[in-house]
Amino acid sequence: MSMLKIMSIFGTRPEAIKMAPVIKEIEAREDIQSMVVVTGQHREMLQQVLQLFKITPDYDLNIMEKNQSLSKITSKVILGLDSILEQENPNLILVHGDTTTTMAASMSAFYHQVPIGHVEAGLRTWNKYSPYPEEMNRMITDDLADLYFAPTQLSENNLLKEGHTATQIFVTGNTVIDVLRYTVHTDYRHGVLDEIPVDHKIILLTMHRRENQGQPMRDVFTAIKEVAIENSNIDVIYPVHLSPNVQKIAHEIFANIDNIHLIAPLEVTDFHNLAARSYFIMTDSGGVQEEAPSLNKPVLVLRDTTERPEGVDAGTLELVGTDTFKVKQAMLTLLHDADKYKRVANAQNPYGDGHTAERIVNICQEYFAKK
Ligand code: UD1
Ligand code: UDP
Repeated sequence: MSMLKIMSIFGTRPEAIKMAPVIKEIEAREDIQSMVVVTGQHREMLQQVLQLFKITPDYDLNIMEKNQSLSKITSKVILGLDSILEQENPNLILVHGDTTTTMAASMSAFYHQVPIGHVEAGLRTWNKYSPYPEEMNRMITDDLADLYFAPTQLSENNLLKEGHTATQIFVTGNTVIDVLRYTVHTDYRHGVLDEIPVDHKIILLTMHRRENQGQPMRDVFTAIKEVAIENSNIDVIYPVHLSPNVQKIAHEIFANIDNIHLIAPLEVTDFHNLAARSYFIMTDSGGVQEEAPSLNKPVLVLRDTTERPEGVDAGTLELVGTDTFKVKQAMLTLLHDADKYKRVANAQNPYGDGHTAERIVNICQEYFAKK
């Protein structure tokens, strides 16, 4: 066989962050040709990551529109990839996680009969609409995949339960732990931290999911606003996602509260170091739920379901949902119950040893060496 050609396809911030170590590992191997295609489902938030990891895409579909619909993303990705897959004919494409880029790129690869490797395969809530549309995106991708890189034993079990072939599933850990090895520094400084008195407790907040946009988001923000007003020794830092639906609600509810800081999405090094400096984290993000156990930070998960039960079992994640009263109670408990805080903060990281990318690339090479 001539040189192995692996095409990594992704489009949003979290995919870029978690694919970066895999791309770097492929680039370091002399016997693999690396090719990177970005769909541009995200623009600024993707660019931040590409710049940090010095990844120059070979192709950029540049599809993002303001307030884009799921149908538009899907159709633009499939149509855009057609000629690229035709022309480049890679041995394997790699996709990550559960975005619409991931699902549509897998469809496109299937139409061209190109094998698919799914990084972060097998996560499930078993609830079609939560998270929406991610649960179906990852199920469709797993139906089409040829190689499954499951982060944990539990995700492998999910794939086996669905009847996927055991010899094609590999438990590798999660690449996000590889990323944390590069980003977190003890001597880190950031402008926003200089504004906050050293004895204040920092709460880091992110919230963006489609199913939370609207009333659930309003209910959560109301709880946070009340706790911030009643507790002057806390500071909430919220790098607000660029989605117009999120921006509108955040700026409306959090306007003019001195200890709530609305800032632009952070470059990932800044985000990880702020997370490491925080007292606890509140989020509906998937990736942040995986990072927090490594940083020993308790997380209040602002959702009713999670595909990351490993973090709940470990004790780091608490599924609080979006009800104002429950969110407020959970915040106050973490702020005032020192014993509970200590227990949660000392939980174990279930997502691997930081060598996931190396394992994934070895498996790809072995798979094609046998062919
Ligand atoms: C997408 C993924 C979600 C993932 C999230 C990570 C889908 C359906 N959703 O959701 O799984 O958790 O990314 O953040 O794949 N925007 C910008 N600039 C950017 C990025 C977004 O302006 O760099 C705005 C645009 O108006 C865009 C909107 O945000 O239309 C929504 O972006 P989209 O990718 O559709 O949804 P996300 O909520 O970001
Ligand atoms: N993140 C970032 N800057 C921010 C907020 C988050 O770099 O301002 C990182 C975070 O560390 C994690 C990833 O973005 O690695 C999670 O992305 P997001 O929450 O957008 O998507 P999800 O993981 O929910 O799909």
